[in-house]
Amino acid sequence: MRLAVCGGVYSNPYALRAFLDDARRRGCDRLFCLGDLGGFGAEPDAVWPLLVDNGVECIAGNYDVAIGRGDDDCGCGYRDPRDNEFAQLIYDFTKAHTSADYAAWMRTLDIEHRETMAGLDVHFVHGSPLVLNDFFWESLDDAEVELRVKESGADVLCCTHTGLPWIKRVGERLVVNVGALGRPANDGRREVWYAVLDIDDGRAEAELVPLAYDWQAHAASMRAAGLPEPFVETVETGWWTTCLEVVPPRERSRGRYQLYRSAVPSGFAADGVGWADAPEVVDDGLPVVPLFGSPCSHPGCGCTPTSTATCAASTARWRPRPRPGAARCLSPASGT
Ligand SMILES: [Fe+2]
Repeated sequence: MRLAVCGGVYSNPYALRAFLDDARRRGCDRLFCLGDLGGFGAEPDAVWPLLVDNGVECIAGNYDVAIGRGDDDCGCGYRDPRDNEFAQLIYDFTKAHTSADYAAWMRTLDIEHRETMAGLDVHFVHGSPLVLNDFFWESLDDAEVELRVKESGADVLCCTHTGLPWIKRVGERLVVNVGALGRPANDGRREVWYAVLDIDDGRAEAELVPLAYDWQAHAASMRAAGLPEPFVETVETGWWTTCLEVVPPRERSRGRYQLYRSAVPSGFAADGVGWADAPEVVDDGLPVVPLFGSPCSHPGCGCTPTSTATCAASTARWRPRPRPGAARCLSPASGT
């Protein structure tokens, strides 16, 4: 049995059409979507008939639960106010452009699906088995992964929500984050990603599939609707320009942008090294800036003053660890 599993359609009917064609071409027997049908794009209602008419089996994501209930926010799970500002903007747009019938259909969706397929227990969730909007990042440590795998107990566990795809083997179990159809994976490619699973005779294999689609039409649609240019920039370049603070350091370091422009410190002081004044960052109109290989990276001691903000915002257990013999970079917030 061959399955095509996608997530995070994010109001992108152009990528969803490409998914349908590609999955059929690959001979997939069943098509699944793990939720977050709206957000980011400009055409939420265009997604619904494509899902229904093509028999895509859907579960609800946090976005669909929120739109279905008429909530005031998407329940995405962001904690940084700058992430939430962008999330709120597109949620309000999506809510205003989603028909009542479509929202009612979202309310009929389950938030997980579990089924025995070819002798294996297969579990589809949106965020993780722990909670609907859990961020199941590739960089989670072994204990965090084990926690989620044990909570499910399935042989095959598939999720989405973070927008970044990966595959792990945890013992005999297969865990797949299928990525998102709605926006690129912050890898500098315009393609988006989904997963193909082959489940036969008690054995499962997964492949992550890059999916080319008509991104020019998607970008034009977003621009015509007046959506913010940083959103369109991501579609056109493959780099994330919004909602970065939630991304852990390992995943964030792979992108072009690492920090909100407003998070760049206005000045530094350290033990004999560092800048007294703020680094000059070119204003290209984007809300985010690169950290690595830019004026924001610190040339003196091998660490980065702004990484304090990066790590502290993303990792609750992060603490600065001065390296012996190395100059110590201090947070500008420390006032020293
Ligand atoms: Fe989500």
